[in-house]
Amino acid sequence: MESSYTVADFYEQQFNSRSYLEMYYLNHLSQPAIDELMYFVLEKLVKTFSSGPKFRTLLEIGCGPCLHLSLCASEHVEEIVLSDFLSNNRQEIELWLKNDPGAFDWSPYTKAVCELEGNREKWAEREKKLRDSVKQVVKCDVHQSNPLDPVELEPVDCMTTSYCLEVACKDKEAYRSAFSNVTSLLKPGGVLIMIGVLNESFYTVSDQKFPCLSLDQAFLEQTLTEVGYEIEQLEIALNPNKSVDTVSDFDAIFFLVARKK
Ligand SMILES: C[S@@+](CC[C@H](N)C(=O)[O-])C[C@H]1O[C@@H](n2cnc3c(N)ncnc32)[C@H](O)[C@@H]1O
Repeated sequence: MESSYTVADFYEQQFNSRSYLEMYYLNHLSQPAIDELMYFVLEKLVKTFSSGPKFRTLLEIGCGPCLHLSLCASEHVEEIVLSDFLSNNRQEIELWLKNDPGAFDWSPYTKAVCELEGNREKWAEREKKLRDSVKQVVKCDVHQSNPLDPVELEPVDCMTTSYCLEVACKDKEAYRSAFSNVTSLLKPGGVLIMIGVLNESFYTVSDQKFPCLSLDQAFLEQTLTEVGYEIEQLEIALNPNKSVDTVSDFDAIFFLVARKK
C-alpha cells in the first residue's frame, strides 16, 4: 500500500456489506452447526443487558451492516444511535429499519435473543422495538477527535462496539488514539460493552483479505486503563477452528464490560 493510502480507503473500495453478512452472519445460528462463538457473544450480551440497569442512550461504533448488538440492547435502552464508516453498511441498516423486502433477515438472531431471554414468541415485537428505538444511523470515523463529525451527540450512557477498532487501526498508537476518540462520546460513569479478536492479523470477505491489528490481552487491558476505564468483566473464548480456519487467523474473541471513570 502507498503511504497515503489508508485503511479507510481500503474499506471504501473493498468491503462488500452483503458478502460480509453472508459470510459471517447467514445461517450461523442454524442447526446442526450453530456457530459457537456467535452464541457466546449473544449469551454474554443478553446476560449483561438483562442484569444491568436500563440506559437512556446507547451508541454503537462501527456496527457495519449488523444489528445483533442493538437487538440485544433494545429491550434495555430508550434511544439507539448506530454508526459506521461505510455508506453501504449504513444503507443495509436503513433497509432493515424500513422493513424493505430486500433487507438482510435478522429474525434468526431476534428469535435466538428472545429465546435466551426466556420468550422466543416475542421476537416480532422485539424487531418493532428495535425499529422504534434507532433514532439515527450516522457516519463514524474512529480516527477523528469527534468520530461522528459533523454530528454532535450528547455523551451516551452506554457504548457498544464489535470487531471495529482492531480492524480500523494500523498500529498500537492509532488504536490508543481511536479508543480515546470514541471514549469521548461516552459519559463519565458510562458503560462500554466491547467484543473483539485477540491475535488476529487478517480476516477475509469474499476472498479479499483485510488486515487486523494483532492485540494481546495485556495490551488491551493497558489501553483501557490508559484511556480511563475500569474493567468490570473480561471473558475470552478460544477459536475452536484455529487449526482449520482459512478465512481468518484469530486465537480468541473477547467480551468486555468496562466503566468510564
Ligand atoms: C469486521 S467489521 C465489524 C462489523 C460489525 N461490528 C460486526 O460485529 O460484525 C469492521 C467494521 O469497521 C468499520 N470501520 C473500518 N474503519 C473504520 C473507521 N475508521 N471508523 C469507524 N468504523 C470503521 C467497517 O466499515 C466495518 O463495518
